Amino acid sequence: MTASLEIVQGDIAAQTTGALVTAANAQLAGGGGVDGVIHRAAGPELLHSIRAIGSCPSGSAVMTPAFKLEAQGVRRVIHAVGPIWRGGQSGEAELLAGAYRRSLELATEAGCASIAFPAISTGVYGYPIPEAARVSVSTIRAYLAKHPGLNVRLVLYDRGTLNVFLREASKLGT
Ligand code: AR6
Repeated sequence: MTASLEIVQGDIAAQTTGALVTAANAQLAGGGGVDGVIHRAAGPELLHSIRAIGSCPSGSAVMTPAFKLEAQGVRRVIHAVGPIWRGGQSGEAELLAGAYRRSLELATEAGCASIAFPAISTGVYGYPIPEAARVSVSTIRAYLAKHPGLNVRLVLYDRGTLNVFLREASKLGT
């Protein structure tokens, strides 16, 4: 089996991967940005189901069913909590890597063949995009080296962010 990472421009809620990742907060309270988009697409049961879980520390993730998103083939929503950017000296890179890694582990545990991520922490949480791109691409590649067979897609909302991710991924090599 071969491991793959695709970097594309698009809307996370339109993906048909087995698992979809949303950028959640530690209170699992639902939110705006990409989280609002996924909650609207999945329906109100998604919020009930994360409220039942309670909370999730920064640097980790929790998993729920996908509710209305199941109609497009999505089986699980993974709620990943990235760090708030505080200048880069507060463990942000480790926390961001942890959010990606735990999401990948959950998708594997659920038997999903594919997973789509947004650029966690790069919106409201203020993580600079080039730094976030390096952490996400290197964490995903390291995971795929050990777990071939999972298809991973990074879905960037706008062309500017896509270009930064592509540039940083190519600087990191293959
Ligand atoms: N598809 C893909 N990416 C998107 C989409 C979309 N439809 N919409 C926005 N983005 P953010 P964070 C990008 O703020 O920084 C929430 O309220 C967006 O351009 O959603 O991790 C949570 O509840 C940006 O690059 O997440 C938390 O409180 C990226 O998604 C907090 O915001 C992430 O932006 C989390 O902040």
